[in-house]
Amino acid sequence: MQRREFIKSSCITCASIIGVSALASLLQSCAALPSLKTVSKDNIISIPETSFIENQNILILKDPQLEFDILVVKKKDNTYNAIYMQCSHQSQPLSATKTGLFCASHGSAFDLDGNVTVEPATDPLRKFKTELVNSTINIYLSKS
Ligand code: FES
Repeated sequence: MQRREFIKSSCITCASIIGVSALASLLQSCAALPSLKTVSKDNIISIPETSFIENQNILILKDPQLEFDILVVKKKDNTYNAIYMQCSHQSQPLSATKTGLFCASHGSAFDLDGNVTVEPATDPLRKFKTELVNSTINIYLSKS
């Protein structure tokens, strides 16, 4: 009986350690790119300029009304790119990194301006007009 309890206890401990390390790994990958849940109103998403974490120039916006996320890039001249994360090749979702976007479907890649850097995609990504008004970044979903 003691042996059985020892084995059971050991397995639970091992599972806990593996679970914690897997969770930590997952959180690290999620923590790499900050994201924000948003709700658009009248085809405009508004986020505070302070939404960007210090030393981060990119932010992923997740809006339940949109099929794909939006990558917002803060540029050196204090303007913003708002890039729709839908591949221009065959409309698949894109993944973002600190240096660009890529598509796992066929390997296309894009820079942080939405331009193609690796084909098969040939068209740039859709970008939305942005405007900074009183420390609020407005992203106009109906305007490119
Ligand atoms: S759908 Fe993205 S490369 Fe084909």
